[in-house]
Amino acid sequence: MTIIMDNNLSNMAMPKQVKIVEVGPRDGLQNEVPVTLEDKVDLINSLSKTGLTVIESGSFVSPKWVPQMAGSAEIYGLIDQVDGINYPALTPNLKGYELAKQAGVKEVAIFGAASESFSQKNINCSIAESLQRFEPIMQQAKLDGIKVRGYVSCVLGCPYEGDIDIAKVAEVAKTLYDMGCYEISLGDTIGVGTPIKAQAMLAEVAKLVPIEHLAVHFHDTYGQALANIYACLALGVSVIDSAVAGLGGCPYAKGASGNVATEDVVYMLNGLNIKHGVDLTALAQAGETICKALGKKTNSKVANALLSN
Ligand code: HMG
Ligand code: MG
Repeated sequence: MTIIMDNNLSNMAMPKQVKIVEVGPRDGLQNEVPVTLEDKVDLINSLSKTGLTVIESGSFVSPKWVPQMAGSAEIYGLIDQVDGINYPALTPNLKGYELAKQAGVKEVAIFGAASESFSQKNINCSIAESLQRFEPIMQQAKLDGIKVRGYVSCVLGCPYEGDIDIAKVAEVAKTLYDMGCYEISLGDTIGVGTPIKAQAMLAEVAKLVPIEHLAVHFHDTYGQALANIYACLALGVSVIDSAVAGLGGCPYAKGASGNVATEDVVYMLNGLNIKHGVDLTALAQAGETICKALGKKTNSKVANALLSN
């Protein structure tokens, strides 16, 4: 059987090029069994050789809340930072920001939520309080010339509240954007979204924040992440968060699986003729090494297929 596909039609609104934000060393490892500092540094250095241009490498949060991210300051002193690659870190408050700055971090990310209950469980304050806490970070970062990315969590559902109003997602995203975040990442923290819902949410946010400043961040709990990414690419989004080997989850979202695997995203982008600049073989090898350190199998279907060949 011959399948005739009109590439122009199927790729009509798709971007020609995307930026992949690799979040494995942070979002991934924050919810895995702890690995050594050496394993983390090795992972980041290996990822630096794959063509990725953004590698989220640490988190300056309370080590009592997320012990896996302890040692983030040391990591920045040990990794080989390559020109042209950003190595951002999460900072929930000014204390975290100052620690990140001391460690030499050149880009940080603040993280809010569209769900009140998740905000309380994750960062121990309301959405409004979190936005107030971010203000001094934004002011200081501006003075320091440090770029700030913003996350909105629970954009398609909350582990405590269920459905989330997409108007609330748009409101929080716009607030972070207006505060000076150069990019807003929309997080399906527990991976419950499906393509039409993902499109509706993205379209609602894009009414208030230009789509070129939006990123999508899908966890793959229900196996919908690639389909959701495809649906969002069709609306023109061009920044995708993913984690090598599909590592991780979120410590304050029970049952959330890892992010969509970067290997799977890269394979899909190859098939769509969308440029991304990442070497799939090198990426799968980096994933294999960290999975060995974790004593687990990869969550990437593509890596599994490649490595078993
Ligand atoms: P708190 O207990 O309300 O904070 O926690 P506090 O200001 O009252 O301080 C309590 C203690 O923490 C004090 O120490 C502070 O010094 C210390 P003590 O006197 O008890 O020894 N502390 C800190 N230590 C290190 N770094 C800091 C810091 N701040 C205070 N920055 C806090 C508030 C925000 C700190 C806490 O709730 C926390 O660390 N939460 C982090 C939660 C987290 O990391 N979650 C995962 C990341 S979010 C995510 O994964 C979602 C995302 O991927 C997108 C998506 O998927 O949707 C981004
Ligand atoms: Mg996440």
